[in-house]
Amino acid sequence: MGVTTVTEMTDGVLHTLFRTEQGGHEQVVLCQDRATGLKAVIAIHSTALGPALGGTRFHAYASDEEAVRDALNLSRGMSYKNAMAGLGLGGGKAVIIGDPDVIKTEELLEAYGRFVESLGGRYVTACDVGTFVADMDVVARETRWATGRSPENGGAGDSSVLTAYGVFQGMRASAQHLWGDPTLRGRKVGVAGVGKVGHYLVEHLLEDGAEVVITDVRQESVQRILDKHPGKVTAVADTDALIRVEGLDIYAPCALGGALNDETVPALTATIVCGAANNQLAHPGIEKDLADRGILYAPDYVVNAGGVIQVADELHGFDFDRCKVQATKIFDTTLEIFARAKADGIPPAAAADRIAEQRMADGRRTLPVTAS
Ligand SMILES: NC(=O)c1ccc[n+]([C@@H]2O[C@H](COP(=O)([O-])OP(=O)(O)OC[C@H]3O[C@@H](n4cnc5c(N)ncnc54)[C@H](O)[C@@H]3O)[C@@H](O)[C@H]2O)c1
Repeated sequence: MGVTTVTEMTDGVLHTLFRTEQGGHEQVVLCQDRATGLKAVIAIHSTALGPALGGTRFHAYASDEEAVRDALNLSRGMSYKNAMAGLGLGGGKAVIIGDPDVIKTEELLEAYGRFVESLGGRYVTACDVGTFVADMDVVARETRWATGRSPENGGAGDSSVLTAYGVFQGMRASAQHLWGDPTLRGRKVGVAGVGKVGHYLVEHLLEDGAEVVITDVRQESVQRILDKHPGKVTAVADTDALIRVEGLDIYAPCALGGALNDETVPALTATIVCGAANNQLAHPGIEKDLADRGILYAPDYVVNAGGVIQVADELHGFDFDRCKVQATKIFDTTLEIFARAKADGIPPAAAADRIAEQRMADGRRTLPVTAS
């Protein structure tokens, strides 16, 4: 009948948590506040390197089980991202279950803030899909452990500025590795998705002398760039067209996850993939397909760490210049991953995972788990 019992749901999630490679989380907290309608899951994957930092996703999940799974997956990803960014932070993530347009209220966000506070700093939150800077200002009324706040409230504001800058550094490192020179001058770069991050990335590319091709499902986002840089940027109809552009050197997925899949990888004309989108590899094995085609893939969570670098800095009193220095290191980190991949004979995505896992294992041996 397609009905899932409570036992089956629990079994599914608990199986993932306790018995699979995707599990192994330290702590998963279910939160409920019936007065405000809050239902949330806070997943702490690892505090081996420090308090677990990761955003809060506010989304109308098809089921509670799906929400828990998402929190498990996303928090695990944050452990790897934070480990590679050298932040001295672990990985966590939270989800609030429900349509933010319908249920999001200040009272609900404050109730959520109290749950975050109850963890004493083991989990530090930030924005994600469905939560914004203004929301973190509200959450922060109830907890010290909310980042991604507005500058007026001691926060860093829009994280996409440094995310784009970090992706640009990853691209320069990819060019250095493949062509022996970090400049993108004269290279043809395709940017899929010119939203918050993508449009800043286009600016860096143009400044460096690259030839830029863009696409976006929102025509106004494309037009904004064409108007700003007449004659310097070309637009194509969609991502399908972009990945097939003749002579494309670099493809930058900056929209949604799963951009690299069984359909797109065989069709790619570019020799480098480096972009901001999270979870670009649609399934395990795609990283090998890219390598087999001679395409250099700069791992997404390595090159898009500029945003987390920015929000993490709020914990020390935000300083943009200090963050920019840290985000510039994405260049060296990306080169280190390519070198490790070559030495170990594995794709860069696997090399990044290995380095992150080693850092977490070392951290677990040497660091006490503290909140500050
Ligand atoms: N904002 C950050 O600081 C940050 C940090 C790390 C990772 N990321 C990731 O980078 C990606 C972009 O983030 P953003 O903040 O710029 O989001 P955004 O929503 O501002 O921009 C995404 C853009 O992609 C476009 N888009 C959606 N589907 C598309 C499709 N099929 N083809 C072409 N364009 C499409 C949207 O219209 C939008 O303009 C996301 O995957 C996000 O998770 C963002």
